[in-house]
Amino acid sequence: MNNLFIIFLLTTNLYATDIQKSEQQHFIFPKWKEFHPLNKTLLHSHDHAAMVDIYTNDIATQPYIEQASQFPQGSIVLKPLYKKNDRNGYLARLVVMVKMHKGYDTEHNDWWYGVYDQAGTTVWFEGKIKSCIQCHEIAKKTDYLFSKKVMEEIDFEE
Ligand code: HEC
Repeated sequence: MNNLFIIFLLTTNLYATDIQKSEQQHFIFPKWKEFHPLNKTLLHSHDHAAMVDIYTNDIATQPYIEQASQFPQGSIVLKPLYKKNDRNGYLARLVVMVKMHKGYDTEHNDWWYGVYDQAGTTVWFEGKIKSCIQCHEIAKKTDYLFSKKVMEEIDFEE
């Protein structure tokens, strides 16, 4: 193989990953705003110095409210982070967790993680993200979700 051909392979491969969306993205964009919003007013996120909303899809809503110890496959939980106490302000990040099939990541309860802008056009991270897993492990009892903390805050607001 000559060098030009190698360069060709590398660049076409990069291009392909750029336009190929992950399977999870099809479930999230553009419809995440139609998911179930759990809180009414914005919540303070202690760990990210931001204001947040929590959204769940149909599969995840009831288990999240009940702070279940295990979530069904297909559960999606989203957290948009805002820089200011204003939903119309700048949405800094959209962080996502998707419950995958059994065996995807057995040691960490089979969650898949993603970090996007609100339209999903920018993909910062996807997959088994170590830093996310390490902190979410604190909430192991409620299947790696901070449902207890979040539901307590929501009860307090109402
Ligand atoms: C230092 C700890 C920490 C790290 C690291 C972290 N999170 Fe979280 N995450 C939290 C806490 C605490 C909450 C509860 C809501 C809040 O206070 O922001 C949360 C909530 C969430 C939620 C809403 C569901 C839930 O657990 O209640 C999602 C989705 C989420 N995080 C995704 C991510 C992703 C993706 C990453 C990695 C890029 C990540 N988190 C990294 C602490 C962390």
